[in-house]
Amino acid sequence: MRDIAARKGGDPVVVLTCYTAPMAQFLDPHVDILLVGDSLGMVVYGMDTTLAVTVDMMIAHGQAAMRGSRKAMVVVDMPFGSYGESPAQAYRNAARILAETGCTAVKLEGGVEMAETVRFLVDRGVPVMGHVGLKPQMVHATGGFRAQGRTEAEAEHVRADARAIAEAGAFSLVVEGTWEPVARQITEEVGCVTIGIGGSPLCDGQVLVTEDILGLFNDFQPKFVKRYAELGAQVSEAAAAYAAEVKARRFPGPEHCFGVKKAEPQKG
Ligand code: KIV
Ligand code: NA
Repeated sequence: MRDIAARKGGDPVVVLTCYTAPMAQFLDPHVDILLVGDSLGMVVYGMDTTLAVTVDMMIAHGQAAMRGSRKAMVVVDMPFGSYGESPAQAYRNAARILAETGCTAVKLEGGVEMAETVRFLVDRGVPVMGHVGLKPQMVHATGGFRAQGRTEAEAEHVRADARAIAEAGAFSLVVEGTWEPVARQITEEVGCVTIGIGGSPLCDGQVLVTEDILGLFNDFQPKFVKRYAELGAQVSEAAAAYAAEVKARRFPGPEHCFGVKKAEPQKG
């Protein structure tokens, strides 16, 4: 946690989301932080929003990511309804997440209104990553997934949120879906490491949803996503090839069966 905090203004911090043990094994050598995001509700469970994700789901996936990771720091999202009621509620659920997964820190969405809670957690040994700007758990209150900070008033609002969470002791801060200059200003203004997603190249680090960059989640694609692979298309091709071989009885071959000798090469 301290080495990440020390990266302010230095080498960019590389973050990707991760929900499973095998993906953690693939990603771990390349990233500083594996974020077990509540985006898993949409990306893995097919929900329309993140709101129905539970603490138990986050713990199960946090445990999976921990089993597959070696060197990366694992941060687990606190889901909607698990921290907004009071600092005590937040502490109770954050302590469960830390204790039951073995992860290093939790992330929660919110600005000025969550600063007291962030301070409460940090003072009691729970490292916190903040999350300001576009806050997916606020989707119903803000009317959809919409970039923040377009007007002067909105920009000032997001910056005040960022300052409040940083001053409350968060070691890092996700800045999501904001006008670029807002993310840049926040990075200059706050003492903690900023992690952009639809933010600014000048943030102290970047995060994206792994399934988005791999082409494994195509329900919708925000402007800030860059596709680095098309694994969804590869999955379709592989399934089609398998289906064709099964129907033609070309799979399984003798090499996939028990107690079947490979045909001897014909002599003469
Ligand atoms: O849930 C998530 O994946 C996130 C990141 C996109 C920041 O919160
Ligand atoms: Na999230």
